[in-house]
Amino acid sequence: MAAEILLDTGDSRPPVNLARLERVANLLLSAAGARERELNVLLVDDERIQEINSKWLERDRPTNVISFQGEGEVLGDIVVSVETAGREAAAAGTTMQCRLERLLIHGLVHLMGFDHEAGEEEARKMAAEERRFAQILSKEKIMADLCINVDHIATIREARGTVEPDPVWGAAIAELAGADGIVVHLREDRRHIQERDVRLLRQTVRTRLTLEMAATDEMIAIACDIKPDIVTLVPERREELTTEGGLDVAGLKEHIRDAVSRLNAGGIPVSLFIDPEEKQVRASLDVGAQCVELHTGRYAEAESPEAQEREFENLAACARLAYELGLRVHAGHGLTYNNVARLAALPEIEEFSIGHSVIARSVFVGLEKAVRDMNALIKQGFVD
Ligand code: PXP
Repeated sequence: MAAEILLDTGDSRPPVNLARLERVANLLLSAAGARERELNVLLVDDERIQEINSKWLERDRPTNVISFQGEGEVLGDIVVSVETAGREAAAAGTTMQCRLERLLIHGLVHLMGFDHEAGEEEARKMAAEERRFAQILSKEKIMADLCINVDHIATIREARGTVEPDPVWGAAIAELAGADGIVVHLREDRRHIQERDVRLLRQTVRTRLTLEMAATDEMIAIACDIKPDIVTLVPERREELTTEGGLDVAGLKEHIRDAVSRLNAGGIPVSLFIDPEEKQVRASLDVGAQCVELHTGRYAEAESPEAQEREFENLAACARLAYELGLRVHAGHGLTYNNVARLAALPEIEEFSIGHSVIARSVFVGLEKAVRDMNALIKQGFVD
């Protein structure tokens, strides 16, 4: 048995990741000790929930969520209005996805026999149970990790050719603020991060250290010596301002396969930074990579809502494909406080690698707050 999400909202499709919602519903079902039972979650509009509310509960108005007890194999049905959920999300400054997850918890806790309308004591017990479920969800790591790229701290240092600001200090502050990992790109021209930084970071980083690098003999030797937790192979051109496109794994299969196998032989898992294209995902599996990092640049830089929608769908499809093929999925490049939350709701992406936007904001608000705010957007879809 399992939880199933059913959509009955006419022609309009709510901005919700149904796959993720289904995963959440199944986690909640397990947490309620009802993994063997069936849970139906019906997403409707206000008109429909008003009909249901009026027919079964004699309340002729829309509401956010209604639960119906089932019997036997069926634990119950939870009906949620996405319109009301959307309004509540806007009022609370959160995403519809987050609000729906909270309403799902509310509906499920009702199905477990709690009732906040049965007096103060009951309301308190129900709220405590809801908090317990919310904590279970947050521990299940359905939200992605945030890895902070500290290259641009080194860019400022190198602009003066001095010793400050030190990216090693920045990494420590980012970790204290809740970053799940630290990323550095050691470029062939050493324009920002230096070998000294990577060596010190290897000793000081307490979360995990990702080394971005080109697939060259020099870099493979450095990586096998320093042993970061993971290497992300990126294309590198001297004249570019930042990494511009993804690695053409499909066109350079033998070269990349060789680099992956040498790094793996050194005990280092490898991620390939690729454009979100099916052939690149399949080629990444083919050359033996453990992970792909989907290039989010086209999504981040899209010039119209339609173009951004297309790029979002494309990223979502590639993330799903990579996940189904058994690859781990990361994403990054060009992500900001304004465009990350939607991608963060994709269940297949387990890690975001973000640099420029966070370091830029840190100039004004401090690195700790900049990291915390980005992490909140990724983990909960809004900043408290
Ligand atoms: N991922 C990769 C592979 C990158 O090369 C970069 C840029 O250094 C990033 C993520 C981070 O991009 P941004 O600085 O735009 O957040």
